Amino acid sequence: MANYSILITGASQGIGKYLFEEFHCKGHKVFGTYNKTQPQRYEEFFSKVDVNNSMSLSNWISSIASTSENFVLINCAGITYNSFAHKTNLDEWNKVIDINIKGTFNAIHAILPYMREKGFGRIINFSSVVAQMGVPGTSAYSASKSALWGLTKTLAAENASKGITVNSLNLGYFDIGMIKDVPQAMLNKIMESIPAKALGNPVNIFNAVRFLIDSDYVNGTHIDINGGLF
Ligand SMILES: NC(=O)c1ccc[n+]([C@@H]2O[C@H](COP(=O)([O-])OP(=O)(O)OC[C@H]3O[C@@H](n4cnc5c(N)ncnc54)[C@H](OP(=O)(O)O)[C@@H]3O)[C@@H](O)[C@H]2O)c1
Repeated sequence: MANYSILITGASQGIGKYLFEEFHCKGHKVFGTYNKTQPQRYEEFFSKVDVNNSMSLSNWISSIASTSENFVLINCAGITYNSFAHKTNLDEWNKVIDINIKGTFNAIHAILPYMREKGFGRIINFSSVVAQMGVPGTSAYSASKSALWGLTKTLAAENASKGITVNSLNLGYFDIGMIKDVPQAMLNKIMESIPAKALGNPVNIFNAVRFLIDSDYVNGTHIDINGGLF
């Protein structure tokens, strides 16, 4: 891989943290954000950013932009909330939309001017197989994740002529991150439903991210990484 400046939102936990460490250890220039979870390592490369605060995102990106180029934005910040719609707490429901879709857009909105000016950019969003499966209790999460598909395609069309690609990864269930909150009995059921009969190894995510960074003609699409689950 050439020299990139890789910016990862939600790098304090789970997949974002994993990707941060993989890229950092392979010698790339990586910058991460945390919100509530203070990182224990590599603090000098982290900034506290709430993706719902567009000013804090702009400040983070402009602080990096003056000394960096070849931007890659990996939008890992995200939350989930499980509840049947008729019992839903509206504040919690709206929070999922605010962070997963509006927060992702805030980050993209802040970085696009720099990418367009430099004539290069890679944006990678994180969606989920849940968006296409109809899983009870996931109305907020699935709505936010399917909204990312439309956003991804539109932004790809708007920015392709400027050397920018925008894609998403449609993840199944991985052995990392937010899966830790799923009760074991439910996890057993999920694993039974996955044709591969196992949770995904995050190295699959790293490989896909590298592929998308290195590919200038893969644009406005998504990669399903799910062990055969649809
Ligand atoms: N793990 C899976 O199997 C799986 C499957 C499908 C899709 N995904 C998607 O992959 C992405 C990463 O998931 P994960 O499993 O790694 O989740 P995770 O372990 O729960 O980590 C979520 C990250 O998002 C950050 N975050 C939450 N609210 C934020 C806010 N308001 N502003 C900035 N950052 C915020 C958290 O930061 P703090 O802790 O510092 O607050 C944390 O670093 C998510 O978009 C998720 O929907 C994951």
